Amino acid sequence: MASHGIEGDEAVAASSAKVTGFRPRIVAFCCHYCAYTAADLAGAARLEYSPSVEIVRVPCTGKADVIHILEAFAAGADGVFVAGCLDGDCHFINGNLRAKPRVALAKKLIAEAGLEPERLEMFQLSAAEGDRFRQIADEMTRRIEKLGPSPAAKGRAKRTDTGASK
Ligand code: FES
Repeated sequence: MASHGIEGDEAVAASSAKVTGFRPRIVAFCCHYCAYTAADLAGAARLEYSPSVEIVRVPCTGKADVIHILEAFAAGADGVFVAGCLDGDCHFINGNLRAKPRVALAKKLIAEAGLEPERLEMFQLSAAEGDRFRQIADEMTRRIEKLGPSPAAKGRAKRTDTGASK
């Protein structure tokens, strides 16, 4: 799992909580070969990105099925993103191409369930793009902060600024 700078985590979490009073939980399904490596690179470079993002490493975005996305929301995520390789770079040839319609379908399903489809997104990046991963993590965090807590996550344990459950 990508490491975050501890000091950076605390600063981002503190400013986020101060502004909105809400620290979202965002699950990121990251393919091992590109997005996860980019996240790891961001950590190694000590780039500060949102501590709201919880990375789930998958071998390929082709392994992130609709049910996994829906389960993440059901388990309390306020937002979810799937991040994989650029077109033509998938190590399993076309896993990322298969993931796109799945994410689109999951968007429709969460909308039918009463959630904003913007809570879910797919991104593509190369393994060398640590800074882009940081931007994605921060962009999704800002987006979810604006939307507020997921209606599907009501009743979950409340998190403190440090991420600990109450
Ligand atoms: Fe990265 Fe398939 S290996 S999306």
